[in-house]
Amino acid sequence: MRRAPENFLTADDIRLVDKGRRDLLRASFLAAVAAGSAAALAGRAATAAAPADAAGDPNILNPTPWGSSLGQPVAANPYGQPSKHERGLVRRQSPGLTQVAAASVSFAPLQGLFGIVTPSGLHFERHHQGWQDIDPTRHRLMVNGARPDFVKTPKVYTMDDIMRLPPVSRMHFIECGANTGMEWGNVAVPTVQYTHGMLSCSEFTGVPLRTLLEDCGADLKAAKFILAEGGDGSSMTRTIPIELVLSGEVMVAYGQNGEMLRPENGYPLRLVVPGVQGVSWVKWLRRIEVGDRPYATKDEAVHYIDLMPDGQHRQYTSIQECKSVITSPSGGQTLLDKGYFTISGLAWSGRGAVKRVDVSTDGGINWTQATLQTPVLSKCLTRFTLPWNWDGRPALLQSRAVDETGFVQPAYGQLRAVRGTRSIYHNNAIQTWQVAESGDVNNVQIL
Ligand code: MTE
Repeated sequence: MRRAPENFLTADDIRLVDKGRRDLLRASFLAAVAAGSAAALAGRAATAAAPADAAGDPNILNPTPWGSSLGQPVAANPYGQPSKHERGLVRRQSPGLTQVAAASVSFAPLQGLFGIVTPSGLHFERHHQGWQDIDPTRHRLMVNGARPDFVKTPKVYTMDDIMRLPPVSRMHFIECGANTGMEWGNVAVPTVQYTHGMLSCSEFTGVPLRTLLEDCGADLKAAKFILAEGGDGSSMTRTIPIELVLSGEVMVAYGQNGEMLRPENGYPLRLVVPGVQGVSWVKWLRRIEVGDRPYATKDEAVHYIDLMPDGQHRQYTSIQECKSVITSPSGGQTLLDKGYFTISGLAWSGRGAVKRVDVSTDGGINWTQATLQTPVLSKCLTRFTLPWNWDGRPALLQSRAVDETGFVQPAYGQLRAVRGTRSIYHNNAIQTWQVAESGDVNNVQIL
């Protein structure tokens, strides 16, 4: 399978394909398979220059430069980097989506990732006013009450204060409420990076917010909501129901995948609100206020609201409902030959664990239960796979997830019947990838 242009082809390769050299690539790939080339077996595209040598593959027969020379010393890269051969696998902006790059989004390259963890450097980004690399010695978190009796001892914490407290580490997905938002009306973007890439999953480490509220003597009976405020210039503020905090799940996090948060993701402190849309995961967290009513701030009254078919706005749809997507094969990739493929994708639910995922190769007429890779965790990405023999005829690939509450991911027709087509947020419809006879995979919608 040739990977989608976003994550693999070099500029020269893309020029080749643009010039109509696709068949040439396929032919040389098949020749490489016949020769048992390791590159082909690893699923890498053979380039037009790859030899079709009946005498055998020189890549296995001949001595290699890397096997006959001295390698680089330790710590040549004090902070390790991916292989230069993987440099196409990067976060990308959708050209023209926003007017300024500081108030924009970069999408995670889901088509090239394995398992469930998003490498920190590929975690999607969504900033309302650019990102900052804050000096942790000067960063503070204040906890106060909307009324004096809500918090007995308001406090200002340093990073040191927070990092001395007993930590918890948990794996969770974060999905922007606007993920798949461009697809509400019809097909808009070609690849899974752009349809679903406002989604990432990490192990977060921090302190339960409940611990800090208790430390400040918050009245957890009178409290009904908290307000979280970011330290960047966007005045990002979000209301969070106290039940989520009392459950112990909401975390004031400083760690991500074993190291400190990346600046783009809120260094040195962010809120982690498992299952809830990304906007509530306030980055560069500077203040928590305990209150007894929703705050209806600008980011909850004008943005991150659902435009319903009757023209009314629905506020506070915060939970990310059950959803899934096939990441391979997916839009922009090409199946180079019929035969065996592994269909692989991601499923998640803001209400708990994924219970099952069904996959269809005929546009939803027949479904087969996929295998869920372990671990299967609550409010975390789950990887699913299904073996598939492509017979070379057109196919329509879909995945449909069910979570532990029994919620079944809807088809576009079902979702639009309730939500209309003019919304931006919370599109969890079933995604369809159409495999053409040529092997090209395209984004289509089936109602
Ligand atoms: N917090 C602050 N302070 N400023 C922001 O712009 N963006 C929010 C949220 N927290 C934002 C913020 C939005 S809309 C999303 S989807 C997530 O952060 C994105 O988190 P990420 O950039 O780590 O992926």
